[in-house]
Amino acid sequence: MGAAQGIAHPVVLMERLRARLLDGARPPEPCARRVPVSHYTCADRYAQERAALFDRLPQIVAHGSQIPEAGDVLAHDWMGLPLLTMRDREGRVGTFMNVCRHRGMRLVQNEGCHQLKSLICPYHTWTYGLDGQLRNIPRLESFVDVDPADFNLVALPTEERHGIIWVQPTVDQPMDLDAHLAGIGVDLDLFGFGDHRFFTQSIKRVPCNWKLIQDAFLDGYHVVRLHKNTVAPYFPDALADSDRVGRHIRSCVARNEIEETRDLAPAEFDLRRHGTYSYTMFPNSVLVMHPDYNSIMTLFPQAPEDTIFVHSMLVPRAQLCDEERAHYERSFKLIDRGVFEAEDLHVCVQAQRGFASGANDTLLFGGLEEAAADFHDLVAQALG
Ligand code: FES
Ligand SMILES: [Fe+2]
Repeated sequence: MGAAQGIAHPVVLMERLRARLLDGARPPEPCARRVPVSHYTCADRYAQERAALFDRLPQIVAHGSQIPEAGDVLAHDWMGLPLLTMRDREGRVGTFMNVCRHRGMRLVQNEGCHQLKSLICPYHTWTYGLDGQLRNIPRLESFVDVDPADFNLVALPTEERHGIIWVQPTVDQPMDLDAHLAGIGVDLDLFGFGDHRFFTQSIKRVPCNWKLIQDAFLDGYHVVRLHKNTVAPYFPDALADSDRVGRHIRSCVARNEIEETRDLAPAEFDLRRHGTYSYTMFPNSVLVMHPDYNSIMTLFPQAPEDTIFVHSMLVPRAQLCDEERAHYERSFKLIDRGVFEAEDLHVCVQAQRGFASGANDTLLFGGLEEAAADFHDLVAQALG
């Protein structure tokens, strides 16, 4: 298994975990890193994050297979703008403001997926194509000097790559997705993102700062503790490692099956069986490679203590028999409600409430939580 574009193959993380296993699970270096509570509560800090991250970087809004057909439209307000991400007749995906160019009416009223032939404004029925072009102005003769070509929907840079749709909320600034991905697309292909298919999704409003959720997904320390009644039996304690690809953090948490790697060559490691890989895609998504499906989670902050959490399950193929569908439905329920909602998001919400007490000025991160502390460094660097 060779490196691509100068980035090590993700198996290197598992090789390091195996080395620790053979070595009697030598623990990682201890540390005590602190992050101010104000970074999770302060309105000024939040405004800086919006300006430096959420108002200017590419962000994942969907998997391409969620809107596979021409006329499939995803209406979402998660990024703080009313947006339509949709597929046109040529198969291209575009994102447009969900705002009529005549007198500003919202075009598609309800958030979520729709199948439409065109976009018809309810107010005076100006009509737009799936490519955002204005197609019809009723009673055009009543306007003077109006060129319909000047009234196409306002577009945002959008690209579908490795099966995933990225949107950058900058009307005047093109998106450099290659620079943003920093070569991590090789890994996304390796884990089959282009071939997976959207299966189901849940959307939750979580009363906590978005970084608390990132912290939880970057922390191998809690897995066998917080999750003792759910997924803990599948994992040895705190056998995890991570590295960086650009500003993205790539992590692997060993599963119990890591024991099987003792006598295997790295080329024989099974990246989904011997460990669970997750990718913290800067700034606000987490991709998790479960044993038989992938998850995409994206955090859309609405306020310092208010985050929309969108979790999509992707399965390896579109055609499933009834038994497989039932299996994936059970798996999603266990992970989305039993683990994420009842355990991970629960502690995030309780920690956020605790911040208001004034008991702590800082949060403390030790050697088993260092990837989370690194994430805060990445955010600080982006904020300058
Ligand atoms: S506001 Fe949309 S047609 Fe008038
Ligand atoms: Fe967790």
